Amino acid sequence: MKSFIGIALILIAGLAVSIWIGFHTKMAEGTLPFDDDQKGIQDQVVIKFSHVVAENTPKGLAAQRFAKRVNEKSNGQIKIEVIPNGGLYSDQEELEALQRGDVQMIAPATTKLSSFSPKWQVLDLPYAMPTSESIIKALNGDIGNTLLQSLEKKQIKGLALWINGFKQITTNDGPIVHPDHLKRQNLRIMPSKVLQKQFDLVGAKAVGLDFNDTYRLLESKELNGEENTISNIYSKKFFDVQSHLTISNHGFLGYAVIMNEEFWNNLTKQQQRIITEAMNEATRLNQRQSFAMNEEQLDLIEKNSSIHIHYLTEKEKREWAKRWEPVYRAFKSDIGEDLLSKMIQLRDSYKDF
Ligand code: LMR
Repeated sequence: MKSFIGIALILIAGLAVSIWIGFHTKMAEGTLPFDDDQKGIQDQVVIKFSHVVAENTPKGLAAQRFAKRVNEKSNGQIKIEVIPNGGLYSDQEELEALQRGDVQMIAPATTKLSSFSPKWQVLDLPYAMPTSESIIKALNGDIGNTLLQSLEKKQIKGLALWINGFKQITTNDGPIVHPDHLKRQNLRIMPSKVLQKQFDLVGAKAVGLDFNDTYRLLESKELNGEENTISNIYSKKFFDVQSHLTISNHGFLGYAVIMNEEFWNNLTKQQQRIITEAMNEATRLNQRQSFAMNEEQLDLIEKNSSIHIHYLTEKEKREWAKRWEPVYRAFKSDIGEDLLSKMIQLRDSYKDF
């Protein structure tokens, strides 16, 4: 009798162990135990993230970090396919592609969002954010929030604001030291009324053109200059086809990381949480490394090219800022008095020249 009970106990224990092993093997194979939070994660979600710059740029690196973290956090259930260098769409096409839902995520320069809401022009005002701290403060504070919220009416989900850095001026007809040196220069700018006005005020002929056409137009001398960050000047080799570079730090270039809103709304709460967390990490990294990256690449340009570099002195910067002051008045009603005065207050508290 005793041995019968013994055998029965061994059999019951064996059964319990195999059920336990089976359950855990399934988990290890990736089948998650049921829990409301996990609903919908069984099917892989693919998010195409298209942008126009190179991978070795602040935007390129932040996009890669974001993709990696989403992949890790979702155990591969959400895949972010990053397509750099305008491989899918040019900067002029990508906004419409996002609205159609042909691509799910993009990170255009904030300048390019002024067609959605003229408020975005506040970030383009010359010398509005004179230091890196002032840029971070504007993007992380009220100014950034107001701008991201303005997208809601356009069926776009604003996820974050990323930094590239300060814009500089390159030309084949330099040096550019005083604003008058830009007179009659034929420059590529991002399509923007503020930037147009800025260069009209100094008598330059500025044209809004696609970013990825710039190198060719500079090389063929159809254009003789452009304004951009060191990171874009370096990664797209503009310095190879330009004779002069002026470190003016006269404007800001950064990005709105945005998603098609309908696509966002169809994600589960858990998928949205993963994307938000990964985006916050990528944004923190972007804010830590973008300025240093621009500085390192300026060093590389200085060491490895024959371009002449002029750093504007404080006195020269004051001269440029004064020439461009009328831009603020011209865009007061477009930007809105409240937002403009927040920006002017920020500018004046950080102005270092
Ligand atoms: C430009 O058009 O110059 C920039 O928007 C490119 C970029 O995305 O940095």
